[in-house]
Amino acid sequence: MRGKINVLITEEELNQRIRELAEEISRDYAKKEVRLICILKGSIFYTCDLAKRLTIPVTFDFMKVASYGSGMETTGNVEIQKDLDESIEGLDVLLVEDIVDSGNTLSKLIPLLKRRNPASLRITTLLDKPSRREVDVDVDYVGFEIDDKFVVGYGLDYDQSYRDLPFIGELEI
Ligand code: IMP
Ligand code: MG
Repeated sequence: MRGKINVLITEEELNQRIRELAEEISRDYAKKEVRLICILKGSIFYTCDLAKRLTIPVTFDFMKVASYGSGMETTGNVEIQKDLDESIEGLDVLLVEDIVDSGNTLSKLIPLLKRRNPASLRITTLLDKPSRREVDVDVDYVGFEIDDKFVVGYGLDYDQSYRDLPFIGELEI
């Protein structure tokens, strides 16, 4: 049984904002090809919808990192559960995240990826919870800043559920 969900960001609002971000990113990377790194599983919807709207050529790779258990609290430990399939050396890389919360995940991932010598590395996140930040991270493209709420949908889960919702919602517990 699923709990009640309050809609915070509608499907239309997501589409509109992602279109804007895609325009901005396409302008910034004009005449370049970008390797999108999708952080599984939460970023799958955002990665696909962004990629479809980018007017520059993109390629994809996927990485799975664990920073959360089955609940809502971050552990501060980040473990690579699935690494990239291909080298990023010399590539223009755009890391695609679903949400930046404490910043622990990105603060561990960014130096790790930089050591692999990409030509450039930028970060985009669909959602940002700045009030929860424990570690500073530089994010280049932010979709929406949200309050300190636990959100689900559009790829984001609570205990692996709710990822399929086409909107971002708040779980009522
Ligand atoms: P951080 O390391 O604390 O910044 O957390 C980043 C990761 O925690 C995200 O990529 C999500 O997978 C997960 N996360 C953080 N906040 C939420 C939320 O509100 N809903 C679902 N997952 C979240
Ligand atoms: Mg994530």
